[in-house]
Amino acid sequence: MSETIVHVLNGPNLNLLGTREPGIYGTTTLADIEALCSKAGEAHGLSVIFRQTNHEGELVEMIHAARGALGIVLNAGAYTHTSVALRDAISATGVPTVEVHISNVFAREDFRHHSYLSPVARGVICGFGGQSYVLGIAALAATRTPPA
Ligand code: DQA
Repeated sequence: MSETIVHVLNGPNLNLLGTREPGIYGTTTLADIEALCSKAGEAHGLSVIFRQTNHEGELVEMIHAARGALGIVLNAGAYTHTSVALRDAISATGVPTVEVHISNVFAREDFRHHSYLSPVARGVICGFGGQSYVLGIAALAATRTPPA
C-alpha cells in the first residue's frame, strides 16, 4: 500500500484548459492545476502523481495503476457521462475515488447531469475551478486520519 500517494487523473480535452471555452473553464491551464495539486499534496504530506490522456482505455489503465494508493482524484471530462468502462475500473480496483469537475455540471446541459462514476465514487466535487482538485486531495487526506 502507498497510503501517501494520490493519483490525479484527467480525461479528454483537459489538456486544452487555458484556451478551451474560457467562459466556462476560465483561463487556468492544466499545468497551473498540476502546480495547485503538488502544493496541496505537500500541505497534506502526500505525493501527487498527475496525468492526462484523451483516451478512455488509457484512463482505465491509469486507474488500474493507482491500486494501493490512498486514492484517485478523477476528472474524467466527457467520459464521466458515457463510460461504463471507467465506472467498472473504479469498482474493480476499489481505489477510493473523488470525482471532480472544474465547472458546475448541474448548472449546464442536461446530459452533464448524469454521471456513470458518481455512484461508485467516494464523493463528488464540482464547480470550484482548479480548487475542485485541491478539495478532492483534502478529502482523501481526511480519510487517513480519524475524525476528531
Ligand atoms: C468537466 C465537465 C464535463 O461535462 C466536460 O465534458 C469536461 C470537463 C469539468 O471539469 O467541468 O470535459 O469534467
